[in-house]
This record gives sequence, structure tokens and C-alpha cells, in this order.
Amino acid sequence: MEASDVKNFELAEQGHLRIAWAGDQMPVLRMIAERFAKERPFAGKRIGACLHVTTETANLMLTLKSGGAEVALCASNPLSTQDDVAAALVTQGIQVYAKKGEDTKTYHEHLDRVLDFEPQIIMDDGADLHGLLHSKRKESLKNIVGGTEETTTGVVRLRSMEKEGALQYPVISVNDANTKHLFDNRYGTGQSTLDGILRATNVLLAGKTMVVAGYGWCGRDIAMRAKGMGSKVIVTEIDPLKALEAVMDGFEVMPMKEAAKRGEIFVTVTGNMQVIAKDHFLLLKDGAIISNSGHFNVEIDIDALAAMSVRRRYVREFVEEFTLGDGKRVFLLGEGRLINLAAAEGHPASVMDMSFANQALSAEFFFHLDKKMDRKIYKVPRSD
Ligand code: ADE
Repeated sequence: MEASDVKNFELAEQGHLRIAWAGDQMPVLRMIAERFAKERPFAGKRIGACLHVTTETANLMLTLKSGGAEVALCASNPLSTQDDVAAALVTQGIQVYAKKGEDTKTYHEHLDRVLDFEPQIIMDDGADLHGLLHSKRKESLKNIVGGTEETTTGVVRLRSMEKEGALQYPVISVNDANTKHLFDNRYGTGQSTLDGILRATNVLLAGKTMVVAGYGWCGRDIAMRAKGMGSKVIVTEIDPLKALEAVMDGFEVMPMKEAAKRGEIFVTVTGNMQVIAKDHFLLLKDGAIISNSGHFNVEIDIDALAAMSVRRRYVREFVEEFTLGDGKRVFLLGEGRLINLAAAEGHPASVMDMSFANQALSAEFFFHLDKKMDRKIYKVPRSD
């Protein structure tokens, strides 16, 4: 237990109950865990994971353990950890380094602790652990057999490393599997993002104008669910093809400079930086609510917002009020971090079941190879 760093061990009992509740919605992972328990594909192997520490992730960690793996887990976002889950996992023999609300320094120290554990497989969400291995912790590369990546943003980062010839081990892109993005991104993000906005604010969605920035798999789900809840939805999208899809799906599409004047609730989910920036803050209505559901907290330019503000204070948990010089108030949710995991519990277990089945099977794949894989990004192998 000393090896771990979690907030409060007294929360473990609640964590066990919530992990079991999610596990009931994860039949695919359960089947894999049962087979792993018999076949022990990871006996004597170490897996290092950097994932949102949720009840769903806990079921994945326990599946790996049932296959014989030793596992160390850190958070893939400082605000997404469920502290009861972290505590419960430690009592089940997983090393966990994650505390909800940890500062940036602690977040990075926790990534280092997972690499100190000398993992052979890296399981990442957002590519922070992959990035660390390729920069400050190159000496740990010698142990690595391969890695997996869960999310679009992480795959984009890894593809640019691959292009530069910098990638040092094979990575399986879980995100690209149809059984991941067509379900988790498409049916998980909308529900969990609206859940996060509602838990943070308790505002009525019906009749409100919601601006969804980005019309990838995640953005289109948020737009569709918000429409279903009675919101008037505006989409902003820089890719012309996706923008046209949004038009044909029945949404108003316009640049953020126009949308900023009309929106009451904003959600960014683009993977890009400064999607809502200084020029847009000037145009917002008084009381505008702004949030992000993309992986990193870079989509809203919070530094610019802070610099323009004369007052900044929390008015509810996860709701920070910024008052601009002219008296206008802007409400930022969850520090601009992914609101579905900061204020809610992330995607429901039944979609994470398929994503994490891909993770478990991809990790197993690395130990069933008859020839060496190249230092490339691979799709999840299909078996017929
Ligand atoms: N990403 C989105 N939702 C998640 C969840 N419930 N668990 C882990 N990662 C997630």
C-alpha cells in the first residue's frame, strides 16, 4: 500500500460497490477477465496505465490483474480521478497514483511513479505517459514491449512522433477501432458531457442556445443530445466537410465570432487550442457558461479570460465566475478541463466496456507475437 498515493483509504468500501455496479454493465470485459484468469497471459508482466481513474477503468485494471499482470495506474487528467475508486483499487493490489484535484507538479510526479515501476506495456489516454517516455524518461524505454492509446488527441500526438521517426515502440490505436469511436465517442460523450454541465450548474437545457465547437464523433453526439433536450444548437467547425454534415443534420453552423454573440452555453470538443479566445470573450452575453469536453484544458484561453477580468471567484463547485471590466460575467466550468469527467463520472460503463475490451485484448496481443512489430502505430488487430 505504501507504494501508492491516493486521497483517502476510508473511501475504499464505497469504491468497491461503485466498481461492481459499473462491472455489471461490462459483460465483454467480464468474459475477457474470465478467460484471462484461466490463461494468465500477463503472468510476470508489468503494465503501466495512465487513464481516467473511474469505475470503468477499475474494471479494466482488475481484468489485467486477473490475467496475471502487475499494474500501476496514474490519472490521465488532474481532475478526473474518483478518489473512492483509487482507494478501492489499492486494496486490490493495484498501485495507484491519483488524487482528484492534484496540482500539475503532483500530476507529473505520478506519471514518473508509474515509469519507476518499469512497465513493459504502456496503456495511455492522451499520450502524456508516451510523451514522458520519449523525453525525460528515455532510460525506461528499454523495458517497453509496446503501448496502446485510448483517445483521438493522444493518437494525433503519436502520429506526429511517428512521422518524425521519433516513435520508439509499437503503439496500438484503440481509438481507431470501430468498437471504440463509433460507440464511446459517439454515444458516450454527449450523455456524459451534458451530465457534467448539468451536475455543475443545474441549468435548464430546454430553450437555451448551446454552441458546440467541433463536429467530430464527440461533437456530433453532444449536438444531438442537446437538441434532444430542447436546446437550440449552433455548431462551429473548421473542416468544411464536417461543417456541411452539421448543416445537413439540421444545425446552424457559423464561425465562433458569430456564435459567441448568441450562445448561452458553450462546449468545446475540437482537440485544438484557443477555440474560445480573447476576441470571443468580448462578444459573449452576460452569464454565458463555457466548458470543454476535449482532452486538454487548452481549448478555452483561460489566461486571457483571467487577464481581462477584474474579479474571479467560485460560485458553486466546478463553476468559476469571471467578471470582466464592463461588469459582464462569464462562468467557466471545471477549470476548462473535460467537464464530463471533472463534474460527472465520464462515459457510462456500457460504452467503456467495448473501449476497454479493445485495451485488454491489445495488451494481450503484444505477448502473442511470432515476429517483432515495427515502431509504428497499428490498428487494433482484427480476428475473424
Ligand atoms: N473516458 C471517458 N469516460 C471514461 C470513463 N468512464 N472511464 C475512463 N475513461 C473515460
